[in-house]
Amino acid sequence: MKILVIHGPNLQLLGRRQPTIYGTADLATINQGLRRLAAARGASLTIVQSNHEGDIVGLIGASKGRYDAVVINPAAYTHTSVAIRDAIEAAGVPTIEVHLSNIYAREPFRQHSVIAPVCRGQVCGFGPESYRLGLEAALAAVSPRPPRAVRATRAKSKRVVG
Ligand code: DQA
Repeated sequence: MKILVIHGPNLQLLGRRQPTIYGTADLATINQGLRRLAAARGASLTIVQSNHEGDIVGLIGASKGRYDAVVINPAAYTHTSVAIRDAIEAAGVPTIEVHLSNIYAREPFRQHSVIAPVCRGQVCGFGPESYRLGLEAALAAVSPRPPRAVRATRAKSKRVVG
């Protein structure tokens, strides 16, 4: 499984940037955690940070056939970029949107994501944990179905008696 993680503009400043909102973990630490999780799941990660909308559009446009899923924090482009939204829609690669902060509890201009409707889902508000949950969601979205015997065992263990 190959997953592309994209960090949008200003996220290279994490750790120093408004720590009361975005936390004290820097991007290298967040990436380390993601790499550890991916390795434990046998997935390979490519991680990119860019401050440029066109670069992000290009990465997403080239993702089909190269990656099984994309995890993206579009940062400020979340609220403005029809170009990134169109790239995600056109590529058709399962994409999970993540945010460190709870964008719905912030300024009105942050409360709308133009990206979310073309994503499988969105995780926001959990600090660096949002990325971990986003990667888990991406892995779950692209994991091959477990063999029939495993599915049957799981279904049995879910049944509740009483
Ligand atoms: C952010 C939220 C955005 O509104 C903001 O522009 C960011 C970071 C987040 O992770 O909480 O740069 O995407």
